[in-house]
Amino acid sequence: MKVAVYPGSFDPITNGHLDILYRALKVFDKIIILVADNKSKNHRFDVNSRVEMIKKATSTLSNVSVDSYDGLTVDYAKKHNATHLIRGLRAVSDYEYEFQLASANNFIDSNIDMVFFMAKEDKTFISSSMIIEMYQNNVDISTLVPSSVIEQLKKMK
Ligand code: COA
Repeated sequence: MKVAVYPGSFDPITNGHLDILYRALKVFDKIIILVADNKSKNHRFDVNSRVEMIKKATSTLSNVSVDSYDGLTVDYAKKHNATHLIRGLRAVSDYEYEFQLASANNFIDSNIDMVFFMAKEDKTFISSSMIIEMYQNNVDISTLVPSSVIEQLKKMK
């Protein structure tokens, strides 16, 4: 069974992230969405809310699970018998960071490889912070995020 980990902050998850997930499910038998619980980062949503929003958005997908972790992603992947890490690429600006991340991960454990999916053209502008900014300025974001994110945003108002 081919297992992959899809790591990220997911602060919050967007339809851009979900599009990458759906496409990766055509390649891997099981995907673990791993929410980074980086205590030094200032997150908009706490780790439990981020996990909950993703669980609701993926509840119909039996081969997807959601977890959080505050250590190294490659260590988590190894412990859970995953061979690959999934990431999405939206623009050239993502490339530099992803290249650095892939190189660092490869330095830590070269047995875990990274796989990248190019974001679809209509999803390249989506980012978690822009979603929040649009929502705060009354833009309809219902086609950009799953309903679980909108529910959570309403609770915070
Ligand atoms: N669609 C929409 N948005 C996307 C996207 C996509 N396909 N891909 C990235 N983004 C956006 C997010 O919306 C988010 O936007 P924001 O900056 O406005 O908030 C931003 O890109 C960050 O993306 P995300 O994928 O959620 O997480 P990240 O880049 O913060 O994730 C980790 C980085 C968690 C994978 C990485 O830091 C990590 O592995 N950390 C654990 C420790 C570790 O192992 N470090 C590496 C070795 S030292």
